Amino acid sequence: MAAAAAAQLAHLAPVDALGWVQALLAAAALFLVYRYLIRPLDYRRDLSDVGFGHVGGVAGAGVRHRRADVVRDVRRRRRVGALPPVYPNGWFALLESDALPAGEVRHVAALGENWAVLRTADGQAHVLDAYCPHLGANMAVGGAVRGDCLECPFHGWRFNAHDGRCAAVPYADKVPEFARVKRWESCEANGFVFVWYHAEGEPPSWQVEAVPQVARGEWLFRGRSEFLINSHIQEIPENGGDVAHLNAIHAPSLLGGGDLVRAQKLPFRFLRHVWAAAWAAQTEPGRTHLATMHLQHETRLLGKVRVLAMDVRAEQIGPAYVEMYLRSALGDLLIVQAVTPLEPLLQRVVHHVYAPPRLALFAPLLLLSEAIMFERDIMVWNHKKYEDKPLLVREDKTIQRHRRWYSQFYSENSPRHSFVSQNSLDW
Ligand code: FES
Ligand SMILES: [Fe+2]
Repeated sequence: MAAAAAAQLAHLAPVDALGWVQALLAAAALFLVYRYLIRPLDYRRDLSDVGFGHVGGVAGAGVRHRRADVVRDVRRRRRVGALPPVYPNGWFALLESDALPAGEVRHVAALGENWAVLRTADGQAHVLDAYCPHLGANMAVGGAVRGDCLECPFHGWRFNAHDGRCAAVPYADKVPEFARVKRWESCEANGFVFVWYHAEGEPPSWQVEAVPQVARGEWLFRGRSEFLINSHIQEIPENGGDVAHLNAIHAPSLLGGGDLVRAQKLPFRFLRHVWAAAWAAQTEPGRTHLATMHLQHETRLLGKVRVLAMDVRAEQIGPAYVEMYLRSALGDLLIVQAVTPLEPLLQRVVHHVYAPPRLALFAPLLLLSEAIMFERDIMVWNHKKYEDKPLLVREDKTIQRHRRWYSQFYSENSPRHSFVSQNSLDW
Protein backbone atom coordinates (compact mmCIF):
# COMPACT_ATOMS: atom_id res chain seq x y z
CA MET A 1 0.00 0.00 0.00
CA ALA A 2 2.77 2.39 1.12
CA ALA A 3 4.83 1.46 -1.88
CA ALA A 4 1.92 2.23 -4.20
CA ALA A 5 1.42 5.67 -2.60
CA ALA A 6 5.13 6.48 -2.90
CA ALA A 7 5.06 5.50 -6.56
CA GLN A 8 2.07 7.77 -7.12
CA LEU A 9 3.81 10.70 -5.36
CA ALA A 10 6.97 10.21 -7.37
CA HIS A 11 4.83 10.34 -10.46
CA LEU A 12 3.01 13.53 -9.42
CA ALA A 13 5.82 15.55 -7.84
CA PRO A 14 7.43 16.94 -11.03
CA VAL A 15 4.03 18.01 -12.37
CA ASP A 16 3.20 19.79 -9.09
CA ALA A 17 6.58 21.50 -8.97
CA LEU A 18 6.08 22.73 -12.51
CA GLY A 19 2.64 23.99 -11.57
CA TRP A 20 4.09 25.90 -8.62
CA VAL A 21 6.79 27.49 -10.76
CA GLN A 22 4.22 28.56 -13.32
CA ALA A 23 1.97 29.99 -10.61
CA LEU A 24 4.88 31.90 -9.08
CA LEU A 25 5.96 33.27 -12.47
CA ALA A 26 2.38 34.35 -13.22
CA ALA A 27 2.15 36.05 -9.80
CA ALA A 28 5.49 37.81 -10.39
CA ALA A 29 4.35 38.95 -13.85
CA LEU A 30 1.07 40.24 -12.40
CA PHE A 31 2.97 42.04 -9.65
CA LEU A 32 5.30 43.69 -12.19
CA VAL A 33 2.39 44.73 -14.41
CA TYR A 34 0.61 46.23 -11.38
CA ARG A 35 3.74 47.80 -9.89
CA TYR A 36 5.10 49.38 -13.04
CA LEU A 37 2.18 49.73 -15.43
CA ILE A 38 -1.08 50.05 -13.48
CA ARG A 39 -0.15 51.71 -10.19
CA PRO A 40 0.90 55.36 -10.57
CA LEU A 41 4.65 55.85 -10.39
CA ASP A 42 6.12 57.00 -7.06
CA TYR A 43 9.75 58.08 -7.54
CA ARG A 44 11.52 59.58 -4.50
CA ARG A 45 15.07 60.87 -4.21
CA ASP A 46 16.65 62.04 -0.99
CA LEU A 47 19.20 64.83 -0.60
CA SER A 48 22.19 62.49 -0.86
CA ASP A 49 20.75 60.40 -3.73
CA VAL A 50 21.50 62.91 -6.50
CA GLY A 51 24.82 64.55 -7.30
CA PHE A 52 26.90 62.56 -4.83
CA GLY A 53 27.63 59.54 -7.03
CA HIS A 54 31.34 60.27 -6.73
CA VAL A 55 31.20 59.27 -3.04
CA GLY A 56 31.74 55.59 -3.67
CA GLY A 57 32.86 52.57 -1.70
CA VAL A 58 31.24 49.29 -0.78
CA ALA A 59 27.56 49.50 -1.62
CA GLY A 60 24.93 49.56 1.09
CA ALA A 61 24.44 51.41 4.35
CA GLY A 62 28.12 52.47 4.51
CA VAL A 63 27.83 54.48 1.30
CA ARG A 64 24.58 56.08 2.46
CA HIS A 65 26.23 57.17 5.69
CA ARG A 66 29.29 58.50 3.91
CA ARG A 67 27.12 60.40 1.44
CA ALA A 68 25.10 61.88 4.31
CA ASP A 69 28.38 63.13 5.83
CA VAL A 70 29.43 64.64 2.50
CA VAL A 71 26.05 66.38 2.14
CA ARG A 72 26.54 67.90 5.60
CA ASP A 73 30.05 69.06 4.66
CA VAL A 74 28.86 70.55 1.35
CA ARG A 75 26.05 72.40 3.13
CA ARG A 76 28.43 73.74 5.78
CA ARG A 77 31.39 74.70 3.63
CA ARG A 78 29.81 75.92 0.42
CA ARG A 79 30.05 79.58 -0.51
CA VAL A 80 26.42 80.47 -0.95
CA GLY A 81 26.97 83.79 -2.73
CA ALA A 82 25.02 87.05 -2.33
CA LEU A 83 21.62 85.44 -2.15
CA PRO A 84 18.30 87.09 -2.90
CA PRO A 85 15.77 86.86 -0.04
CA VAL A 86 15.07 83.22 0.74
CA TYR A 87 11.25 83.13 0.80
CA PRO A 88 9.44 84.88 -2.09
CA ASN A 89 5.79 85.97 -1.94
CA GLY A 90 3.21 83.71 -3.56
CA TRP A 91 1.36 80.41 -3.44
CA PHE A 92 3.34 77.42 -2.13
CA ALA A 93 2.32 73.76 -2.15
CA LEU A 94 2.34 72.44 1.41
CA LEU A 95 0.90 68.99 0.85
CA GLU A 96 -0.38 66.75 -1.90
CA SER A 97 -4.17 66.49 -1.74
CA ASP A 98 -4.27 62.73 -1.26
CA ALA A 99 -1.98 63.02 1.79
CA LEU A 100 -4.81 64.83 3.60
CA PRO A 101 -7.94 62.69 4.10
CA ALA A 102 -11.10 64.33 5.46
CA GLY A 103 -11.04 64.65 9.26
CA GLU A 104 -7.24 64.59 9.53
CA VAL A 105 -4.51 67.11 10.29
CA ARG A 106 -0.86 67.21 9.19
CA HIS A 107 2.11 69.25 10.39
CA VAL A 108 4.12 71.09 7.73
CA ALA A 109 7.23 73.17 8.48
CA ALA A 110 8.29 75.37 5.56
CA LEU A 111 9.10 79.02 4.75
CA GLY A 112 10.16 79.51 8.37
CA GLU A 113 6.60 78.76 9.58
CA ASN A 114 4.90 75.81 11.23
CA TRP A 115 1.44 74.96 9.97
CA ALA A 116 -1.43 72.68 10.86
CA VAL A 117 -2.97 71.66 7.53
CA LEU A 118 -6.37 70.02 8.04
CA ARG A 119 -9.38 68.87 6.09
CA THR A 120 -12.86 69.18 7.54
CA ALA A 121 -15.61 66.62 6.82
CA ASP A 122 -17.01 68.78 3.98
CA GLY A 123 -13.75 68.17 2.11
CA GLN A 124 -12.33 71.70 2.46
CA ALA A 125 -8.64 72.08 3.33
CA HIS A 126 -7.59 74.75 5.87
CA VAL A 127 -4.24 76.07 7.06
CA LEU A 128 -3.74 77.34 10.62
CA ASP A 129 -0.67 78.23 12.66
CA ALA A 130 0.42 74.97 14.26
CA TYR A 131 1.16 76.45 17.70
CA CYS A 132 -1.70 76.73 20.15
CA PRO A 133 -1.96 80.24 21.64
CA HIS A 134 -2.84 78.73 25.04
CA LEU A 135 0.49 77.14 25.94
CA GLY A 136 2.22 76.55 22.61
CA ALA A 137 1.50 72.89 21.87
CA ASN A 138 1.83 71.88 18.22
CA MET A 139 -1.81 71.18 17.40
CA ALA A 140 -0.93 69.17 14.30
CA VAL A 141 0.94 66.62 16.40
CA GLY A 142 -1.62 64.65 18.36
CA GLY A 143 -4.44 67.15 17.73
CA ALA A 144 -7.73 66.16 16.08
CA VAL A 145 -10.30 67.58 13.68
CA ARG A 146 -13.68 67.88 15.46
CA GLY A 147 -16.40 69.11 13.14
CA ASP A 148 -15.26 72.54 11.87
CA CYS A 149 -12.60 72.82 14.58
CA LEU A 150 -9.05 71.76 15.30
CA GLU A 151 -8.69 70.46 18.85
CA CYS A 152 -5.38 70.94 20.62
CA PRO A 153 -4.03 67.75 22.21
CA PHE A 154 -2.66 69.45 25.35
CA HIS A 155 -5.76 70.85 27.11
CA GLY A 156 -8.45 70.35 24.50
CA TRP A 157 -9.03 73.95 23.37
CA ARG A 158 -10.80 74.06 20.00
CA PHE A 159 -10.24 76.54 17.18
CA ASN A 160 -12.58 77.07 14.25
CA ALA A 161 -10.80 76.21 10.99
CA HIS A 162 -12.74 78.89 9.05
CA ASP A 163 -11.61 81.91 11.07
CA GLY A 164 -9.17 80.64 13.71
CA ARG A 165 -11.39 81.76 16.62
CA CYS A 166 -11.38 79.73 19.82
CA ALA A 167 -14.69 77.86 19.92
CA ALA A 168 -14.38 75.98 23.20
CA VAL A 169 -12.25 75.63 26.33
CA PRO A 170 -13.41 72.35 27.88
CA TYR A 171 -12.77 73.34 31.52
CA ALA A 172 -13.70 77.05 31.44
CA ASP A 173 -17.09 78.76 31.75
CA LYS A 174 -16.23 81.41 29.21
CA VAL A 175 -14.18 81.35 26.02
CA PRO A 176 -11.84 84.38 25.92
CA GLU A 177 -13.05 86.80 23.22
CA PHE A 178 -9.59 87.48 21.87
CA ALA A 179 -8.40 83.86 21.76
CA ARG A 180 -7.64 82.84 18.20
CA VAL A 181 -4.99 81.22 16.11
CA LYS A 182 -3.78 82.70 12.84
CA ARG A 183 -5.60 81.34 9.80
CA TRP A 184 -3.71 81.38 6.50
CA GLU A 185 -5.23 81.85 3.06
CA SER A 186 -5.18 78.50 1.27
CA CYS A 187 -6.50 76.86 -1.89
CA GLU A 188 -6.44 73.47 -3.52
CA ALA A 189 -5.86 72.74 -7.20
CA ASN A 190 -4.28 70.12 -9.43
CA GLY A 191 -3.47 67.71 -6.61
CA PHE A 192 -1.90 70.17 -4.13
CA VAL A 193 -2.94 72.20 -1.09
CA PHE A 194 -1.37 75.67 -1.40
CA VAL A 195 -0.80 78.41 1.18
CA TRP A 196 -0.47 82.11 0.36
CA TYR A 197 2.75 83.47 1.88
CA HIS A 198 3.46 87.23 1.79
CA ALA A 199 6.15 88.96 3.84
CA GLU A 200 4.08 92.17 4.03
CA GLY A 201 0.86 90.37 4.92
CA GLU A 202 -0.82 91.34 1.64
CA PRO A 203 -3.76 89.24 0.37
CA PRO A 204 -3.42 87.05 -2.75
CA SER A 205 -2.94 89.01 -5.95
CA TRP A 206 -3.63 85.98 -8.15
CA GLN A 207 -5.03 82.46 -7.81
CA VAL A 208 -3.78 79.01 -8.77
CA GLU A 209 -6.35 77.90 -11.35
CA ALA A 210 -7.53 74.30 -11.67
CA VAL A 211 -6.52 72.70 -14.99
CA PRO A 212 -9.94 71.88 -16.56
CA GLN A 213 -8.94 68.43 -17.88
CA VAL A 214 -7.67 67.45 -14.40
CA ALA A 215 -10.64 68.92 -12.53
CA ARG A 216 -13.11 67.14 -14.87
CA GLY A 217 -11.25 63.84 -14.47
CA GLU A 218 -10.39 63.60 -18.20
CA TRP A 219 -6.68 63.46 -17.44
CA LEU A 220 -5.72 60.88 -14.81
CA PHE A 221 -3.02 61.15 -12.15
CA ARG A 222 -0.35 58.68 -13.34
CA GLY A 223 2.59 59.32 -11.06
CA ARG A 224 4.66 61.58 -8.87
CA SER A 225 8.33 62.28 -8.26
CA GLU A 226 9.84 63.96 -5.21
CA PHE A 227 13.29 65.44 -4.69
CA LEU A 228 15.13 67.28 -1.93
CA ILE A 229 17.53 69.88 -3.27
CA ASN A 230 20.35 71.77 -1.59
CA SER A 231 19.80 75.20 -3.16
CA HIS A 232 18.10 78.59 -3.07
CA ILE A 233 14.56 78.45 -4.51
CA GLN A 234 15.31 80.88 -7.35
CA GLU A 235 17.87 78.54 -8.93
CA ILE A 236 15.13 76.05 -9.82
CA PRO A 237 12.74 78.25 -11.85
CA GLU A 238 15.74 80.14 -13.31
CA ASN A 239 16.36 76.99 -15.36
CA GLY A 240 13.47 78.21 -17.53
CA GLY A 241 15.33 81.36 -18.56
CA ASP A 242 18.63 79.53 -18.99
CA VAL A 243 18.32 78.35 -22.57
CA ALA A 244 21.98 77.48 -23.10
CA HIS A 245 22.13 74.79 -20.42
CA LEU A 246 19.63 72.66 -22.36
CA ASN A 247 22.03 71.62 -25.11
CA ALA A 248 24.77 71.06 -22.52
CA ILE A 249 23.50 68.99 -19.60
CA HIS A 250 20.26 67.78 -21.23
CA ALA A 251 21.83 66.74 -24.54
CA PRO A 252 23.35 63.37 -23.58
CA SER A 253 20.98 60.44 -23.95
CA LEU A 254 18.47 59.69 -21.22
CA LEU A 255 19.94 56.19 -21.16
CA GLY A 256 23.00 57.63 -19.43
CA GLY A 257 20.90 58.51 -16.38
CA GLY A 258 20.88 61.53 -14.09
CA ASP A 259 24.59 61.58 -13.19
CA LEU A 260 26.40 64.13 -15.38
CA VAL A 261 29.67 62.19 -15.50
CA ARG A 262 28.04 58.90 -16.42
CA ALA A 263 25.73 60.54 -18.96
CA GLN A 264 28.71 61.68 -21.07
CA LYS A 265 30.15 58.17 -21.37
CA LEU A 266 30.71 56.70 -24.82
CA PRO A 267 28.12 53.87 -24.79
CA PHE A 268 25.29 56.40 -24.59
CA ARG A 269 26.51 58.74 -27.34
CA PHE A 270 24.56 57.11 -30.17
CA LEU A 271 21.43 58.87 -28.91
CA ARG A 272 21.24 62.62 -28.20
CA HIS A 273 18.62 65.20 -27.36
CA VAL A 274 18.43 68.47 -29.26
CA TRP A 275 16.62 71.46 -27.78
CA ALA A 276 15.38 74.84 -28.99
CA ALA A 277 13.79 77.20 -26.49
CA ALA A 278 12.37 80.67 -25.94
CA TRP A 279 11.34 82.30 -22.66
CA ALA A 280 9.20 85.39 -22.09
CA ALA A 281 7.45 87.03 -19.15
CA GLN A 282 3.85 88.16 -19.50
CA THR A 283 3.37 91.90 -19.28
CA GLU A 284 -0.40 92.52 -19.35
CA PRO A 285 -1.75 93.98 -16.09
CA GLY A 286 -2.88 91.21 -13.74
CA ARG A 287 -0.78 88.60 -15.54
CA THR A 288 2.74 89.66 -14.63
CA HIS A 289 3.09 86.70 -12.25
CA LEU A 290 3.15 84.48 -15.36
CA ALA A 291 6.00 83.59 -17.70
CA THR A 292 6.14 81.06 -20.52
CA MET A 293 8.91 78.87 -21.89
CA HIS A 294 8.44 77.20 -25.27
CA LEU A 295 10.60 74.16 -25.80
CA GLN A 296 11.10 72.02 -28.88
CA HIS A 297 12.74 68.71 -28.24
CA GLU A 298 14.03 66.03 -30.59
CA THR A 299 15.76 62.76 -29.84
CA ARG A 300 18.24 61.90 -32.59
CA LEU A 301 19.92 58.61 -33.39
CA LEU A 302 23.56 58.87 -34.51
CA GLY A 303 23.13 62.64 -34.74
CA LYS A 304 20.72 62.46 -37.69
CA VAL A 305 17.69 60.20 -37.50
CA ARG A 306 14.82 61.78 -35.60
CA VAL A 307 13.25 59.11 -33.39
CA LEU A 308 11.07 61.27 -31.14
CA ALA A 309 9.85 64.86 -31.06
CA MET A 310 7.96 66.79 -28.45
CA ASP A 311 6.79 70.37 -27.95
CA VAL A 312 6.56 71.71 -24.42
CA ARG A 313 4.89 74.87 -23.15
CA ALA A 314 5.99 75.49 -19.56
CA GLU A 315 3.86 78.05 -17.71
CA GLN A 316 5.59 79.51 -14.67
CA ILE A 317 2.82 80.59 -12.31
CA GLY A 318 4.35 82.68 -9.54
CA PRO A 319 7.62 81.84 -7.82
CA ALA A 320 7.07 78.17 -7.00
CA TYR A 321 4.65 76.44 -9.37
CA VAL A 322 4.94 75.36 -13.02
CA GLU A 323 2.58 73.60 -15.45
CA MET A 324 4.30 71.86 -18.37
CA TYR A 325 1.99 71.02 -21.28
CA LEU A 326 3.64 68.37 -23.42
CA ARG A 327 2.51 67.71 -26.98
CA SER A 328 3.75 64.46 -28.52
CA ALA A 329 2.70 62.42 -31.56
CA LEU A 330 0.80 60.20 -29.14
CA GLY A 331 -1.18 63.05 -27.56
CA ASP A 332 -1.10 65.76 -24.88
CA LEU A 333 0.06 65.32 -21.28
CA LEU A 334 0.64 67.57 -18.29
CA ILE A 335 3.45 67.62 -15.72
CA VAL A 336 3.05 70.04 -12.81
CA GLN A 337 5.94 71.08 -10.60
CA ALA A 338 5.62 72.47 -7.07
CA VAL A 339 8.62 73.85 -5.18
CA THR A 340 8.48 74.28 -1.39
CA PRO A 341 11.32 75.91 0.57
CA LEU A 342 11.70 73.74 3.68
CA GLU A 343 14.71 75.83 4.74
CA PRO A 344 16.51 78.78 3.14
CA LEU A 345 18.71 76.36 1.20
CA LEU A 346 16.60 73.22 1.16
CA GLN A 347 13.85 72.79 -1.43
CA ARG A 348 11.34 70.00 -1.85
CA VAL A 349 10.22 69.61 -5.44
CA VAL A 350 7.24 67.42 -6.35
CA HIS A 351 6.12 66.64 -9.89
CA HIS A 352 2.77 65.08 -10.86
CA VAL A 353 1.97 63.70 -14.29
CA TYR A 354 -1.60 63.73 -15.68
CA ALA A 355 -2.64 62.07 -18.93
CA PRO A 356 -5.74 60.90 -20.82
CA PRO A 357 -6.53 57.19 -20.19
CA ARG A 358 -5.07 56.03 -23.53
CA LEU A 359 -1.66 57.43 -22.46
CA ALA A 360 -1.87 55.93 -18.97
CA LEU A 361 1.10 53.62 -19.57
CA PHE A 362 3.18 56.23 -21.42
CA ALA A 363 2.79 58.93 -18.75
CA PRO A 364 4.91 57.27 -16.01
CA LEU A 365 7.69 56.66 -18.55
CA LEU A 366 7.59 60.32 -19.47
CA LEU A 367 7.73 61.36 -15.81
CA LEU A 368 10.70 59.03 -15.27
CA SER A 369 12.47 60.59 -18.28
CA GLU A 370 11.79 64.05 -16.90
CA ALA A 371 13.12 62.92 -13.49
CA ILE A 372 16.40 61.77 -15.08
CA MET A 373 16.84 65.13 -16.81
CA PHE A 374 15.89 66.96 -13.62
CA GLU A 375 18.54 65.03 -11.66
CA ARG A 376 21.18 66.51 -13.96
CA ASP A 377 20.01 69.99 -12.93
CA ILE A 378 19.97 68.93 -9.26
CA MET A 379 23.58 67.73 -9.52
CA VAL A 380 24.53 71.29 -10.47
CA TRP A 381 22.19 73.03 -7.97
CA ASN A 382 23.34 70.87 -5.04
CA HIS A 383 26.90 72.17 -5.33
CA LYS A 384 26.76 75.60 -7.00
CA LYS A 385 26.93 79.05 -5.45
CA TYR A 386 24.40 81.75 -6.34
CA GLU A 387 26.15 84.17 -8.68
CA ASP A 388 24.53 87.58 -8.26
CA LYS A 389 26.72 89.17 -10.94
CA PRO A 390 26.91 86.44 -13.57
CA LEU A 391 29.30 86.74 -16.49
CA LEU A 392 26.80 86.56 -19.33
CA VAL A 393 27.01 86.70 -23.12
CA ARG A 394 24.32 88.16 -25.37
CA GLU A 395 22.74 84.74 -25.89
CA ASP A 396 22.19 84.47 -22.12
CA LYS A 397 19.87 87.49 -22.03
CA THR A 398 16.83 85.58 -20.81
CA ILE A 399 18.68 84.70 -17.59
CA GLN A 400 18.73 88.40 -16.68
CA ARG A 401 15.14 88.83 -17.85
CA HIS A 402 14.12 85.91 -15.69
CA ARG A 403 15.84 87.49 -12.69
CA ARG A 404 14.02 90.77 -13.27
CA TRP A 405 10.71 88.91 -13.58
CA TYR A 406 11.37 86.83 -10.44
CA SER A 407 12.37 89.87 -8.36
CA GLN A 408 8.67 90.95 -8.30
CA PHE A 409 8.12 88.17 -5.74
CA TYR A 410 10.45 89.76 -3.17
CA SER A 411 9.40 92.69 -0.99
CA GLU A 412 10.91 94.87 1.70
CA ASN A 413 10.45 92.41 4.55
CA SER A 414 11.16 89.20 2.64
CA PRO A 415 13.38 87.11 4.94
CA ARG A 416 17.07 87.05 4.16
CA HIS A 417 19.51 84.23 4.75
CA SER A 418 21.43 84.50 7.99
CA PHE A 419 25.11 83.93 7.53
CA VAL A 420 25.59 83.16 11.20
CA SER A 421 25.57 79.40 10.67
CA GLN A 422 28.18 79.67 7.88
CA ASN A 423 30.60 81.73 9.97
CA SER A 424 30.08 80.08 13.30
CA LEU A 425 32.55 77.62 14.77
CA ASP A 426 29.71 76.11 16.72
CA TRP A 427 29.32 72.81 14.88
S1 FES B 1 -1.60 74.27 24.75
FE1 FES B 1 -3.27 73.97 23.47
S2 FES B 1 -4.92 73.72 24.78
FE2 FES B 1 -3.27 74.14 26.07
FE1 LIG C 1 17.43 71.90 -16.77
